[in-house]
Amino acid sequence: MSTDDVVGAAGSHPVALTTSDGGRLEFACAPGRSVLEAAAEAGAALPASCRQGTCGSCHASVTDGPYELGPHSEQALPPGERERGEVLLCRTFPCGPLTAELPYEQSRILYGGIPVREGTVTAVDPVTPDTVRLELRLDDPDCQFDPGQFMELQAPGGEPKRAYSLANTGNWEGRLEFYVRLREGGHFSSYLADRARPGDRLTVHGPQGAFGLHETGLRPRWFVAGGTGLAPLLAMVRRMAEWQDPQPARLFLGVNEPKDVFGLDELAAVAAELPGFRYEVCAWKPGPGWSGPTGTPADLLAAALPELGGAAPDLYVCGPPPMVDAVLHTAALGGVPPEQVHRERFLAT
Ligand SMILES: Cc1cc2nc3c(=O)[nH]c(=O)nc-3n(C[C@H](O)[C@H](O)[C@H](O)COP(=O)(O)OP(=O)(O)OC[C@H]3O[C@@H](n4cnc5c(N)ncnc54)[C@H](O)[C@@H]3O)c2cc1C
Ligand code: FES
Repeated sequence: MSTDDVVGAAGSHPVALTTSDGGRLEFACAPGRSVLEAAAEAGAALPASCRQGTCGSCHASVTDGPYELGPHSEQALPPGERERGEVLLCRTFPCGPLTAELPYEQSRILYGGIPVREGTVTAVDPVTPDTVRLELRLDDPDCQFDPGQFMELQAPGGEPKRAYSLANTGNWEGRLEFYVRLREGGHFSSYLADRARPGDRLTVHGPQGAFGLHETGLRPRWFVAGGTGLAPLLAMVRRMAEWQDPQPARLFLGVNEPKDVFGLDELAAVAAELPGFRYEVCAWKPGPGWSGPTGTPADLLAAALPELGGAAPDLYVCGPPPMVDAVLHTAALGGVPPEQVHRERFLAT
């Protein structure tokens, strides 16, 4: 079927989306509707979070057809990406037949809508002065998810939803683990800092999201994290350890100061189980007693890429937008093809 065969309301435009594993999704997009809204009206919830152009969770690449991009944050879609035809589907309004590629497999599209569950807080543990490890247990333990995905959490009392990446891997006990950086005055941050207690009931929307491991043979997998951007990457290397994946893997974690380091026991546990995995931690502002490297994860990557000699690695990058953008720049200079770079920016939703 061609996009021209998709019949919709007067003035609507046919849209055809292709997933990274070759799945096709075709629907009509009515005037004034974004591609994301039209897909949802056709019964397909695509990975997204804020739905207002600020988080970057719905990015895709237009391959053909005219469109307008509505207002969006440049952190969610930097100008260089926009010029290459990348878009945010929540802000993409077709002006004619449109085709686009989705950077994820068909399994990430939710055809029955986003699942909503209830869960109980089982742990709220500070791991740095401004980072909390949060653990939940879902009432219904039958909830599978892929490493890299996130849940939207809603605190008691009608609080707004916030996206948090899962740091653990799928399990049959309904266990969910998150690392949350506390933001001054933030809704969910204030709940965690002031009121959260084991036994609290939270509403959990998901799993959602496009970020995740890609199967590309034996190519090395490198992971680059800033702060709590470690969470989804920890889930990925934990999955590699569980499955004893053979790809050589390296993880670079960057923090501002030594007091911000967390997750070392968890990384050491992965290294003990996964041959060929190593990790390094750098601090931007090292204090007395810091013996590790100084700088940013982009600096670690820049130093490591020339050592590789062989095929460029698949890169998985997560953290605050400036750090992610610096790493993408370093990767491009170091010759990593853009299609081998997968990223999630932790932006406000
Ligand atoms: C897909 C996705 C996954 C995410 N996963 C994680 C995760 O695993 N761990 C984690 O700590 N965060 C994660 N985030 C960020 C998280 O969703 C929230 O934005 C953040 O925790 C702030 O929520 P809040 O309710 O406390 O603050 P809000 O009430 O939303 O905002 C309070 C103040 O903080 C500012 N602010 C909010 N978020 C940010 C931000 N990210 N950077 C800079 N300033 C900000 C706002 O502009 C505002 O001034 C993720 C975001 C996305 C889109
Ligand atoms: S869902 Fe489109 S930018 Fe957040």
